[in-house]
Amino acid sequence: MNSKTLCGPFKQLLTMNGLPLKGPLKDEQLEVLTNAGIVVQDGKILDLGSYSDLENIHPDSEKNFNNNSEQIALPSFIDCHTHICWGGNRVNDYSMRVAGKSYLEIAASGGGISDTVTETRKASEDKLVELILDRAKQHLQRGITTIEVKSGYGLNLEDELKMLRAIKKANEKTPVRLIPTFLGAHIKPKDFDGSHAEYLDYLLDEVVPVIAEEKLAARADIFVEEGAFDIDVARIYAKNLKLKGFDITMHVDQFHPGGSKLAIEEGCVSADHLEFTDDESCELFGRSETVAVALPGASLGLGMQFTPCRKLLDNNACVAIATDWNPGSAPMGDLITQAAILGASEKLTIAETLAGITFRAARALRIEGGILRKGDEANFTVFETDDFRNIFYQQGQLKPSATIMNAQSFEF
Ligand code: NIG
Ligand code: FE
Repeated sequence: MNSKTLCGPFKQLLTMNGLPLKGPLKDEQLEVLTNAGIVVQDGKILDLGSYSDLENIHPDSEKNFNNNSEQIALPSFIDCHTHICWGGNRVNDYSMRVAGKSYLEIAASGGGISDTVTETRKASEDKLVELILDRAKQHLQRGITTIEVKSGYGLNLEDELKMLRAIKKANEKTPVRLIPTFLGAHIKPKDFDGSHAEYLDYLLDEVVPVIAEEKLAARADIFVEEGAFDIDVARIYAKNLKLKGFDITMHVDQFHPGGSKLAIEEGCVSADHLEFTDDESCELFGRSETVAVALPGASLGLGMQFTPCRKLLDNNACVAIATDWNPGSAPMGDLITQAAILGASEKLTIAETLAGITFRAARALRIEGGILRKGDEANFTVFETDDFRNIFYQQGQLKPSATIMNAQSFEF
């Protein structure tokens, strides 16, 4: 699709244009163009609107998707929180969990994240590249063209760098855009001889300078929770990383409330999980620029309550939705299924759920995206249906027929 290409006609073209970044949304606020098309040139949207008008205005265009099928198009999706660089699996944890042991009990008895650290340390950089590419391909088939990917299963200089270099290499090989995040502060590894504060100092002194030097990540994350890092050490770590120019995000309130207040106070770009976020924090989100990221895949994986998205939105928060795709708490990785189930449980409008996996997810990553306007990157996904609402109504069973990005068209 290198030359000028007219894509369509689409029975509906959902642009996600003109919507507020924060707060509740009604479906009637969505801009839905009917019998519409998109003119793509050099990977950007040259024009969009009525298909027949575009045919007249751009008679020199090549045509794509002009196949008489009932189809709709919308911005491709953004998964703003994943851990798709991992080795091994955690099926043992799963069988223990469904038999009644909690995630924190399994972690305390030596399983959990530590198990994946052992397996990821064993994997070569090339093996990790292969695993990331396979997972990115699955996501592309789900209509996702941007994926945030965290390190955090290496937990020492050598293996954190191996993970981040693998993410960088994979990014060069996949059409999907991968955005790396340094999560050396996932937990204190079993073999680190020292306190939690000393481990964070080790990361700051030994690991972060190499990451900055090699430009392996511009974002950093920390897991604030019992058994991971407490609020006091996390605050010092976040302040230090901010001084070094990193955007900060945090895993907070997954099992206990409190961490999200720290994330908001420290001006984090996002605060993620929030299953146990209290009313006071919901209000604070509404007055802050920190995006509240719900991870329904972790609630489903652990059999736990969902993030209070309705309350967050009604308090004027910016709410994004991501998969948290990882081998422990969230092995499913299916964004649409998870967003649909979250929407049904939390009573989110279709507009709110869509915003959460498009432009509000872009906001969590502080990137442009998730909106279709003239001049924007032409990243969009096509579904064979006559009504975009079917995407969530069918709870993930309606799959995209094509995804377009970087002037390439991927048909499934
Ligand atoms: O987002 N909560 C902390 N970290 C991940 C889980 C990682 C794992 O269990 O391997 C999460 O749920
Ligand atoms: Fe996570």
